Amino acid sequence: MSLNSNMSRKEFLKWMKYLLFIPFIWMIIKMNKDHQRFGTSRKPIKLPNEFSPGLSIKDEVIICKTEDDLKVYSSKCTHLGCKINKVENNELVCPCHGSRYNASGIPVKGPSVKELKELSFEIDKSTNEIIIQLS
Ligand code: FES
Repeated sequence: MSLNSNMSRKEFLKWMKYLLFIPFIWMIIKMNKDHQRFGTSRKPIKLPNEFSPGLSIKDEVIICKTEDDLKVYSSKCTHLGCKINKVENNELVCPCHGSRYNASGIPVKGPSVKELKELSFEIDKSTNEIIIQLS
């Protein structure tokens, strides 16, 4: 039994080669959608600008406020990506392997050796909100 008497083996293999690309293309499209959802096109976070001076952790971000300055860092540890969830003696502590960062996001105890990612933000004076870009 032949596949198709009008189709040569060479043509059949050519079509099969194209068919193998379908899952590959589907995977590229899915990865692109995931990247858009979790990557650079994430919505900014809006937080009320009511933090007291010092370090505050709010979900994905760390707010470092002084009398005349405000910095925002990602709460993602630069070692293996755990979420930093604790402030101890004015240092940020990662629960996974114990890395500690100072108020400038610089590691003061390993295993992490890389600074926390500083996030850009703006303050909406009309609503008194901090609008933080997560990308
Ligand atoms: S992930 Fe934070 S110290 Fe390892």
